[in-house]
Amino acid sequence: MAYECILAEKDGEVGVLTLNRPEALNAFSDQLMDEVTDALKKFDADDDIGCIVLMGSEKAFAAGADIKEMASKSYIDVYSEDFITKNWEEATRVRKPIIAAVAGYALGGGCELALMCDFIIAADNAKFAQPEITIGAMPGAGGTQRLARFIGKSKAMDMCLTGRMMDAQEAERCGLVSRIVPKGELRAEAIKVARQIADFSRPIAMLTKEAVNRAYETTLSEGVRFERRVFHSVFALEDQKEGMTAFIEKRKPSFKNR
Ligand code: HXC
Repeated sequence: MAYECILAEKDGEVGVLTLNRPEALNAFSDQLMDEVTDALKKFDADDDIGCIVLMGSEKAFAAGADIKEMASKSYIDVYSEDFITKNWEEATRVRKPIIAAVAGYALGGGCELALMCDFIIAADNAKFAQPEITIGAMPGAGGTQRLARFIGKSKAMDMCLTGRMMDAQEAERCGLVSRIVPKGELRAEAIKVARQIADFSRPIAMLTKEAVNRAYETTLSEGVRFERRVFHSVFALEDQKEGMTAFIEKRKPSFKNR
């Protein structure tokens, strides 16, 4: 598939997917989301890639679903095509870690896509919002659910009911983003963090991601049980032997991803 709305590049073991529809502040047209889906699937299947960075421009990560494409749709249109399910959920199916690197606007579906990634590194100019209510709609790609789980009911209600923007500092305070970096350093910093993850044992990073995500799908005792079983399974990997032996021998481990 040739891409027109995104750039997909490899930087060593890091897959970098850049949303690139500047004329619409990276608003999610159907084509753009098809391309994102295709690129994420390819990175996930690529043995050379250990971690993925998903980013936009300095002005906008993404301004949400394409309002011009969406405005005239009827109920039966969106119901029949199961609007957004087709090409919006790949990020939640990817097994390798995905970092959202957010500069500028992450609005509506843009905020929701960032929430589907494993963690968010924000530039100091990042702005998050669920402004759907201001255009006669509501979040439809997990905003009401993921925000409520990640930042709590009060902040989630505030954002979804008022549509207000949250800046990077507030987003870090309430746990929406994991760290803030100067906007000019966002890409380099996100790739550096992704490279650090890609250098670890790949199966262990993937198992760890799966275990953390389980926290949002199950009870505490079931989640802890799941974690214990996965933890036990790590001892079947050569990488566990290599990591612990390297520690004892005071050298850097060399993981073989098996
Ligand atoms: C289509 C969009 C767009 C969008 C911006 N543009 N956001 N086009 N869909 N979501 C277009 C504008 O029409 C304009 O093109 C160009 O991008 C630049 O935008 P401006 O508004 O001129 O820029 P600025 O004044 O800097 O304002 C930036 C902005 C504003 C604050 C981000 O554009 C804005 O409020 N955008 C809409 C944000 C929003 O409501 N998002 C939620 C969408 S609903 P032209 O050619 O007109 O000059 C959603 C629901 C998802 O995401 C649910 C799951 C499906």
